[in-house]
Amino acid sequence: MSAPPLTRGLLGTGEPGLTGHLTAHGPLPAVADLAAAAGDHTGRGGAGFPTARKLRAVTDAARATGRAAVVVGNGGEGEPAAAKDAVLLARSPHLVLDGLHLAGRAVGADTLVLAAAHAALPGLDRALAERGDRARVRLVGLPDRFLAGEESALVSVVDGGPPLPRTKVPPVRERGVGGRPTLVLNVETLARLALLARGDDAGGHTLVTRHTAGPHGRVTDVAEVPVGSRLADVLPLAGARAVLVGGYHGSWLPTPVAADLSLDRDSLACAGASLGAGVLAALPADRCGLRETASVVAHLAAQSAGQCGPCLNGLPRIAAALELLARPAPAPHGLLDDVHRWSGLVVGRGACSHPDGSVRFVASALRVFAPELAAHAAGRCSATTAAPFLPVPGGAR
Ligand SMILES: Cc1cc2nc3c(=O)[nH]c(=O)nc-3n(C[C@H](O)[C@H](O)[C@H](O)COP(=O)(O)O)c2cc1C
Ligand code: SF4
Repeated sequence: MSAPPLTRGLLGTGEPGLTGHLTAHGPLPAVADLAAAAGDHTGRGGAGFPTARKLRAVTDAARATGRAAVVVGNGGEGEPAAAKDAVLLARSPHLVLDGLHLAGRAVGADTLVLAAAHAALPGLDRALAERGDRARVRLVGLPDRFLAGEESALVSVVDGGPPLPRTKVPPVRERGVGGRPTLVLNVETLARLALLARGDDAGGHTLVTRHTAGPHGRVTDVAEVPVGSRLADVLPLAGARAVLVGGYHGSWLPTPVAADLSLDRDSLACAGASLGAGVLAALPADRCGLRETASVVAHLAAQSAGQCGPCLNGLPRIAAALELLARPAPAPHGLLDDVHRWSGLVVGRGACSHPDGSVRFVASALRVFAPELAAHAAGRCSATTAAPFLPVPGGAR
């Protein structure tokens, strides 16, 4: 009898066990040059950085310092609108663990860490036990905070510290966990490496978390889609007031613009967007985009520990101003100009890119919802449903 065909794709059959994994994907092959196998694959943790370059940089840093590297799989997914990593870890933990081993071998690491939300740890521990890997991979639980997944904050948690980013210099790839060269890769990136190593064109697909309106409220799901798909084929856009691409460090787009886009780096960049954390949301016409934005920005501002000026002074002011602009009432004179000015002042000034990502999201809202700004100034709002659409922990307003 011939072997069953291998299952392509990251989400597989939904059978997370080792037997199902091996049946679907076959054993993990030896890979002589993982960076070459990764080709032009880009990371799925948000910034879209080329994975091969990271592999080479950490290998070089380990050689230069004479210290064995550490690899950390980043599965915390602090972005409240994203669920792809949680779904991946639940459905295909062995692909992620395969990728962790491959990356570890490629950079000569002697320590492998998989960091994820506390809720994911029992399933990951079961997967480690199945493959006899408990002694080789350390599991670390991450707090449910937006910043915990930023790579230097992640390193701090792994080292027993707070979930806070630190200065960019020296970079984590040179001095990360325990002061050693550290490779941080998103868990989807790791799983894609595990497929690329098996000769699958895994880089041609990406996981997305979709939010659409259903008869009983927001419907959220995770799908694996070809890079280059038409956005309108991936996300139902009928009746959408606007489309959020990339998540809370991403951008709002007018629906007709989004409908014409394809999900690839260049096409999205032309529209001022990026896939970021893989979040796609079609905002229903009955919601107010400014109110949604104010709610998200209040959360983003509250998530920083205010270690740097932009987060201490800039984001809270911008959040407070948006709260006023989101009301259907005239805002204080010059407030909109203030938001633009404060936004310009925070860019590039933080130890991490949280302020930059946050004001990119704000700027896109002020562009796309300009008609709503004018309506609010005249005391009107066309939204008919007050309940927020986008998920925000604790319902920050
Ligand atoms: C505020 C902030 C939050 C982040 N949160 C996450 C996260 O939850 N998960 C993640 O994989 N990357 C997150 N990142 C990106 C990481 O710093 C890092 O670039 C990423 O894990 C690298 O993986 P990749 O090369 O596979 O994309 C975050 C970055 C910032 C600035
Ligand atoms: S820029 Fe903001 S979020 Fe980043 S480290 Fe500084 S205070 Fe924290």
